[in-house]
Amino acid sequence: MTDLLDVVEVHRSFPMGSRRIEVLRGVSLRVAAGESLAITGMSGAGKSTLLQIMGGLDRPTAGRVLYRGRDLYAARDRERSALRARNIGFVFQAYHLLPELTVLENVLLPGLSAHGAFLHGKRLRERAAMLLDRVGLAERAPHRPNELSGGEQQRAALARALMNAPELLLADEPTGNLDSKTGEDVLRYLFELAAGEGLTLIIVTHNEALAGYCRRHVELRDGLLA
Ligand SMILES: Nc1ncnc2c1ncn2[C@@H]1O[C@H](COP(=O)(O)OP(=O)(O)O)[C@@H](O)[C@H]1O
Ligand SMILES: [Mg+2]
Repeated sequence: MTDLLDVVEVHRSFPMGSRRIEVLRGVSLRVAAGESLAITGMSGAGKSTLLQIMGGLDRPTAGRVLYRGRDLYAARDRERSALRARNIGFVFQAYHLLPELTVLENVLLPGLSAHGAFLHGKRLRERAAMLLDRVGLAERAPHRPNELSGGEQQRAALARALMNAPELLLADEPTGNLDSKTGEDVLRYLFELAAGEGLTLIIVTHNEALAGYCRRHVELRDGLLA
């Protein structure tokens, strides 16, 4: 099977005072297309750092990340942004919806960006409406995010992440701000949509129960994967 992502000996350190702390110490990981993978580890273990590096958002100090065989960080910034916008969706713990836009506009937004315009006009709106329907928010389309519950906001963020029909979805503690019942609700939608759209799914979590939903599970500890 072709690898979608190939993480090769990735290191990431950050300056701390006059020293540097090494958060990732040579992480290697291959992710096949269509896989679901959970990455767990204690708070501060470097899970978010690793996810950002895999998603083209943060340059490793050393090592490489290959996306379908292409070296992400050898590419120009513009190229990497374009690849990200077209192929990778992100869901974060804190939703990050724009408060001044409606729910529908938030979902539409990635489709309007320079790199993301794979649909136009009416078809763009149709896809956004379809995705909102799929996460049970059809009626909430004209509302502002602050009129929605936390679970509903995360479902809207999920619809937004899928707007450009990515092949890879990266989720960083997607249920971290939700109670367990609401979190499970969100996960049901997440796994349903991922299966429906044939997505590769990587979820970072410190929640072992969530990790159990994924086909594969790795743990980040002392800067390495186990
Ligand atoms: N931009 C940054 N600058 C300095 N230190 C950082 C930065 N990002 C993360 N760190 C440090 O790296 C470590 C791992 O952080 P993070 O990847 O957020 O862990 P996790 O998501 O597993 O809780 C922490 O000690 C954190 O303080
Ligand atoms: Mg984190």
